Amino acid sequence: MDTDPRFRALLPAPSAPVDLAALYAYPAALDRPWVRCNMVSSADGGAWGPTGRSAELSSPADRRVMGVLRGLSDVVLAGAATARIEGYRPVRPREVWSLLREGRPATPSVAVVTRTLDVHPDLLAAAPEDAPTLLFTTAAAPEERVRAAREAGAEVVVAGDGASVDPAAVVRGLAERGLYRVLCEGGPHLLAEFASAGLLDELCLTTSPHLLGPASSRIVAGDAPSHRADLRLEHLLESEGALFARYTRA
Ligand SMILES: NC(=O)c1ccc[n+]([C@@H]2O[C@H](COP(=O)([O-])OP(=O)(O)OC[C@H]3O[C@@H](n4cnc5c(N)ncnc54)[C@H](OP(=O)(O)O)[C@@H]3O)[C@@H](O)[C@H]2O)c1
Repeated sequence: MDTDPRFRALLPAPSAPVDLAALYAYPAALDRPWVRCNMVSSADGGAWGPTGRSAELSSPADRRVMGVLRGLSDVVLAGAATARIEGYRPVRPREVWSLLREGRPATPSVAVVTRTLDVHPDLLAAAPEDAPTLLFTTAAAPEERVRAAREAGAEVVVAGDGASVDPAAVVRGLAERGLYRVLCEGGPHLLAEFASAGLLDELCLTTSPHLLGPASSRIVAGDAPSHRADLRLEHLLESEGALFARYTRA
């Protein structure tokens, strides 16, 4: 057991220290993708800080959990706005625990949902061969960018036949590539679409001890139809005043 003394479990049983990799393990023997989303919210429900980034809500403990979740995942999935604003690049090996990667590529792939294919060039060209970047887009994606992305080494996948990427087609595309342990990192628009489509299996939610006020979005945004779903609280951890809840679909 690799325990972390900086965290204590409040649920299922108060204890210290905590084995994060065990607590956040994906279900064993998956036969389909398991879509986990990891988000951080302020105490008053805000998803990003005054500079428009979620980093202001994060903390060393939150980054620790993020690193474990990335290490456990096969693919990190994000909306293109998050990739642009948060400066997504291929995941670096030092960001993930090598022990969690036995028998798998050293890093998870990054998959971005986008109509424009407007992502940082490094995300396309600097990904390792065994964990290429995936771009899920529509048939109307700009041809020049599709060609450039493919030439740079990324996989461009047309997901669905509409003007928007169909979240179910994303999940099918990941399944076809054997990428079952999905870590969606938002943002709020993408999370809303997956939740609305009933495709969210798990929500890992950090509640950070800050107030942001009404200018900040919730962790779900946009015009995807609301979809009510019951969740089960699997665990609740505390570190540095932040709460780390793991919910699964009830
Ligand atoms: N609190 C948190 O945990 C958290 C997590 C992540 C991000 N954030 C914050 O959230 C903000 C970004 O989130 P966001 O909700 O505005 O955007 P987002 O969901 O990250 O990305 C939206 C973009 O993704 C693409 N997209 C989404 N759904 C699509 C679909 N069905 N078909 C085709 N393309 C689709 C489009 O990209 P194109 O424009 O390229 O077409 C769209 O503009 C940032 O401020 C970030 O810092 C917070």
